[in-house]
Amino acid sequence: MAVIELKKINKIFGSGISRVHVLHDIDFSANRGQLILVVGPSGSGKSTFLTIAGGLQTPTSGSVEVEGKAVEQLTKAQRDKLRLNQIGFVLQSYNLVPYLKVKEQFEFVDKVKRQGNLNKEDLAGLLKQLGISNLVDKFPGQLSGGQTQRVAIARALYANPDIVLADEPTAALDSQKVEEVGQLFQDLAKQRDKAVVVVTHDTRLLEYADKVYQIMDGKMTESAKQTD
Ligand SMILES: Nc1ncnc2c1ncn2[C@@H]1O[C@H](COP(=O)(O)OP(=O)(O)OP(=O)(O)O)[C@@H](O)[C@H]1O
Ligand SMILES: [Mg+2]
Repeated sequence: MAVIELKKINKIFGSGISRVHVLHDIDFSANRGQLILVVGPSGSGKSTFLTIAGGLQTPTSGSVEVEGKAVEQLTKAQRDKLRLNQIGFVLQSYNLVPYLKVKEQFEFVDKVKRQGNLNKEDLAGLLKQLGISNLVDKFPGQLSGGQTQRVAIARALYANPDIVLADEPTAALDSQKVEEVGQLFQDLAKQRDKAVVVVTHDTRLLEYADKVYQIMDGKMTESAKQTD
């Protein structure tokens, strides 16, 4: 069963002369154990798609189902709970808390979500894998773009979500770090049975993907991915 499914999603911003139709009849699904890429140029609708998939924005029409439940039929409280417990976001803006040190970003997650987060050992392993163990006492403002990106990835994964939604998670990374992050996302999908959805224009991630969608002017198509 698809863990997340979008059916005939449309998104229109504004009205009259400022009306923009950003997403057109988007159909999309992701299963556990899959790393899925959505590739498209700037302005094609990637972030809009991802924030709708994760319930941060509502579509103009169409439905989003998470584990078979239609998100639009949930109450706000239920939607918040679903986001908190099942979805991990790595947003384009990183959304780290500016006045908390890196290690405190994780403690902050513990305050918001008390159960089911990684234990100390797994967190240490994750930080090591991402090459950021030495940054735990720094504030976000003291990090480079690539370091910030990796901390944001760690923070999203710390809550151990079933679904990971990542927006351009490799934009600021050099090729070696891209490989490491690609491998990490693939491991999460395969070894921890998560659905990992990455929107990007970074074609360096293609080799790690199980399924690839193209998005162009708000229209999405599944593209054939050669699996060896
Ligand atoms: N709140 C909004 N109001 C009006 N237009 C919007 C809004 N959000 C996005 N758009 C428009 O929707 C289109 C798609 O934006 P979106 O941010 O989803 O693209 P993107 O593929 O993520 O681009 P990038 O690669 O630059 O991040 C753009 O034309 C953008 O201007
Ligand atoms: Mg974007």
